Amino acid sequence: MAVLVCVTGAGGFIGSWIVKLLLARGYAVRGTSRSAADDPKNAHLWALDGAGERLAMVRVDLLDRPGLRAAFSGCDGVIHLAAPIVGDPAEIVEAVVTGTRNVVEAAADAGVRRMVLSSTISAMYMDPRRDPEAPLDESSWSDLDYCKNTENWYSYAKTVAEKSAWDAARARGLDMAVVIPVIVLGALLQPGLNVSSTHITKYLNGEVATYANASHAYVHVGDAAEAHVRVLEVPGAGARRYVCAESSLHRGELCRILAELFPEYPIPTRCKDEVNPPKKGYKFTNQPLKDLGIKFTPLREYLYEAVKSLQEKGFIQKTTDTKVADKRSPPPSENLPVPISVAKL
Ligand SMILES: NC(=O)c1ccc[n+]([C@@H]2O[C@H](COP(=O)([O-])OP(=O)(O)OC[C@H]3O[C@@H](n4cnc5c(N)ncnc54)[C@H](OP(=O)(O)O)[C@@H]3O)[C@@H](O)[C@H]2O)c1
Repeated sequence: MAVLVCVTGAGGFIGSWIVKLLLARGYAVRGTSRSAADDPKNAHLWALDGAGERLAMVRVDLLDRPGLRAAFSGCDGVIHLAAPIVGDPAEIVEAVVTGTRNVVEAAADAGVRRMVLSSTISAMYMDPRRDPEAPLDESSWSDLDYCKNTENWYSYAKTVAEKSAWDAARARGLDMAVVIPVIVLGALLQPGLNVSSTHITKYLNGEVATYANASHAYVHVGDAAEAHVRVLEVPGAGARRYVCAESSLHRGELCRILAELFPEYPIPTRCKDEVNPPKKGYKFTNQPLKDLGIKFTPLREYLYEAVKSLQEKGFIQKTTDTKVADKRSPPPSENLPVPISVAKL
């Protein structure tokens, strides 16, 4: 019988790629959504190879702990992604903090072998006292007062949620690991526009005339999915935090590469801040994920893939003047499957 993994927020941007990967590897997947199984927003999941035989969708809210317990019953692993990223601050904090705590408790109650929590780099780097030259590591946490004072409620909620998840997992003896993605980009499997993809739509649709004086790190959505699955699978991969990042660059450099790939769009060439020197990004290491066998796709490839996908889904205007050869195929995944066994979880 196939190993069963529950993925919360299965129909989202990263969730859809994880479900696709798990089905391709022969897992049975139980996805959660706040919507009914036949909601059109999750229809793309049913179209995935293997979905007919090995996918089930359950409707559950993160605030419903018994519902989560039922969703996790019989599962070997849980990958927790469901989270609001934008919206009402109180709702974000409740769904992320209480919701994550409920997921950990329910996973422990259900006796899953390992839970993988998707945190975020903004639970790590938002600390004004951080040494900018020191790479972020497992001991790095965002400063809660700073997040509150800057009204960064998503970062605040994800930081509190991750800390609380570690406390609960330790108290309950739950094997947990945390994947910490940076800005995730690539092709959209889901029908709606997710928040991280809007990071580049604004540079393509003329919404902004300048770019911010800021640097950030990026990663391909397929590699982020692979990281979550690999961390779930590999024996001994539990009990640690994995930064999931490919490269870090200034917004000006990001715009320059986008303009090189897609010169037909009105991509900004000027920085909003023409006074200060370019801001440097946080430093990080992705070696722990490389040690688990993750091979990171280069930025140019997933930027190209993301823009083509946004065009195909109608989120940005398709232009006729694309100088990049359309016959360029998407990069082959170098992340080869790990054989499935119950024990690996
Ligand atoms: N994308 C990134 O750049 C990025 C970077 C770092 C970390 N992450 C983390 O990765 C995870 C997935 O992100 P994503 O980009 O795939 O987001 P996404 O596309 O918005 O998917 C998240 C899913 O969470 C569910 N959800 C939304 N609001 C909720 C709420 N109030 N209560 C319960 N469930 C809710 C939704 O599923 P239903 O509507 O079906 O319930 C949604 O499909 C999140 O935990 C996020 O913090 C993402």
